[in-house]
Amino acid sequence: MYSEKQTKDFQQQTKTFLQDIAIISAREINVLRDVLRFHEHRYYVMNDPLLADYEYDQLFKQLEKLEKEDPSLVTPDSPTQRVGSSLNQNFTTVQHLVPMLSLDNSYNAEDLIDFDRKAKELTGLDVIEYCIEPKFDGASISLIYENDMLTRGATRGDGVEGEDITTNIKQIRSIPLSAPFSKYGVQQIEIRGEILMSKSAFAKYNEGLAEQGLPPLANPRNAASGSLRMKDPKEVGRRNLEAFLYHVSYYSDDKRKPAAERIEEPHDADLQDEKLLQTHAGSLKLLWDCGFRSPQKEKKVVKGIDEVIKHVSDFEAMRDDLPYEIDGMVVKVNDFALQDQMGMTTHHPRWAIAYKFKARQATTKLRAVEFQVGRTGAVTPVAKLDPVHIGGVTVSSISIHNEDYIKEKDLKIGDSVLIERAGDVIPQIVKSLPDARDGQEQNIDFPKSCPVCKSELYKEEGEAVWRCINIECPAQVVERIIHFVSKDAMDIKSFGEANVRKFYELGLLKDIPGIYELDFSKISELEGFGKKSIDNLQAAIEASKQQPLHRLVYALGIRYVGETTAKTLANAISDLFELETKTEEDLQQLEDIGVKVAQSVYKFFSNAQNIEMLKHLQQLGLNFTNTKKQTATGTDTLQGQTFLFTGSLTKLKRSDAEAMVEEHGGKILSGVSSKLNYLVVGEDAGSKLEKAKKINTVKIITEDEFITLIG
Ligand code: IVH
Repeated sequence: MYSEKQTKDFQQQTKTFLQDIAIISAREINVLRDVLRFHEHRYYVMNDPLLADYEYDQLFKQLEKLEKEDPSLVTPDSPTQRVGSSLNQNFTTVQHLVPMLSLDNSYNAEDLIDFDRKAKELTGLDVIEYCIEPKFDGASISLIYENDMLTRGATRGDGVEGEDITTNIKQIRSIPLSAPFSKYGVQQIEIRGEILMSKSAFAKYNEGLAEQGLPPLANPRNAASGSLRMKDPKEVGRRNLEAFLYHVSYYSDDKRKPAAERIEEPHDADLQDEKLLQTHAGSLKLLWDCGFRSPQKEKKVVKGIDEVIKHVSDFEAMRDDLPYEIDGMVVKVNDFALQDQMGMTTHHPRWAIAYKFKARQATTKLRAVEFQVGRTGAVTPVAKLDPVHIGGVTVSSISIHNEDYIKEKDLKIGDSVLIERAGDVIPQIVKSLPDARDGQEQNIDFPKSCPVCKSELYKEEGEAVWRCINIECPAQVVERIIHFVSKDAMDIKSFGEANVRKFYELGLLKDIPGIYELDFSKISELEGFGKKSIDNLQAAIEASKQQPLHRLVYALGIRYVGETTAKTLANAISDLFELETKTEEDLQQLEDIGVKVAQSVYKFFSNAQNIEMLKHLQQLGLNFTNTKKQTATGTDTLQGQTFLFTGSLTKLKRSDAEAMVEEHGGKILSGVSSKLNYLVVGEDAGSKLEKAKKINTVKIITEDEFITLIG
């Protein structure tokens, strides 16, 4: 899309603009828009940004300012125009220019060989060239561009008619609002693709649901398709959806039109020369060159079915390494002339086939439901299933979250259920299969009293969760301790769930402060606790006293306070007891803290028993202060900077060093790329260091230099 020269020019222009953002004038508004589009493309399409988020935001704000001062300067494809202000009313039904067909499926080499045999019969060829690309597991969409402008985005619907979701589509930043199709002589074009939510965006989204006490979604596909029909386009924007475009279904005055309507005119010279719209691979290149994220890099062109078979199995092996979910590969006859010759059925084209990977879904029987009490007293129903293998693991129990969820999924004991394990996501029930019922199924009845301490259960208005409100309930106490010692909380290594349960049952541990008052002489009498393991445990407990404040805030297990919220809270205080003095209104002033979270934090710090426990923990020597605030380094010294640690650090723990970066506003990356600003190198650094040396923008620093940088 952008040549090396253009890239250099845009970088230079960006630098000039960033030197003094405030003096960018209305005269330069078109250049500013081009600069922003260039950076959107680098970030969302190429996945290789050249600008810190913070810098992008500054430029974006200046554009907004200029457009606000003179609204006549706004263009429909301005980067500001993604952010629609009004809510979607109804999504109108629209007709696709060409019906959106499905794909035929294959599951093994024989199926593919069969497909190839038919393709050879239909074309009369001995060897066929195929283009293979991932089968993206999301929600399909169709886009229309007219005179280079995005004019419509639609869902698949029934394949003939879909729903107009243009305002929501505009929120997806890898979809350009304008694209230079006219350069290729194309006036109108309809393209197809898939909307996805990346694995990391999905994990974050589910985390957000969990913080609100809502059940997670089963897979990123549901998250993506659910997002497309949302009323509030801004919410769609917040979900960080991505788009891959992989098919040109129609373009004006050319071969992709149904044969009867075809105008036999010479094609545009560019298209002819570059074979852009004569092969599938060419169409992917055209889309890529027009600024779309097409599978240009992910595709592979091969000759003959043997190579196809090899490639799909190689790709399946690296399925889990991709940042998004795919459920197979799509094999397409590359040459459009051959595609036309092969034609299609009413259901699918004869020139393409989906090769489906091993299923991550399976059906099994729901045999019973057990009720577990969590650390906040929430009573969670857990479905006990006939054990079933999915994607390499055996699943025999699955959380079914709450009463509403059970109703919504229409679950009964004895039901056949469809379950899914999407990537690393905890398995979920997708749906029940009511058609398989024989009348023996039983309703799932919720208990009225706590299955552990027998006290009465309560449900708050507007909530789906039944709770045991007895704060002393043994189940809750144990779960609170397990949470406190866990990896993301105080990270007390070698403690673990099993030890918490054991010590609790033996009466050696009865509450959180008890962790720091364990009688090790008694523990040493237990089987499996030699001197070494006791020393380790003791050292880990001792070390946890120095954990940064946000970990302690998270470890307290306050309802709705996840890791991110805990960081926000810790950043707002110098000492934990400051939270005792904050009102709900004060708390709501903090970023991303809403009414529910504020109420919950306020409630926690208004409870005398909790304050007693905190005082006790302080006496025991736990860190209650925000050290970063004390040294007054400010929160944002690393704002916009990215870091990666490699090799073994000798002075800092890796997790602490990473936390320091985040506390100062920086970000941790998972790999070396041109996005990386600093690689911090410990002992025995390997391939990451080698890779970083090749990218001259990455600063390679030692652990000591990092410590100096952090101050
Ligand atoms: S080609 C006529 N290519 O899979 C062309 N489809 O199971 C038909 N899909 O409805 C589509 N990745 O939503 C094609 N690389 C890819 C795809 C893909 C995902 C979806 C698409 C289609 C469904 C069929």
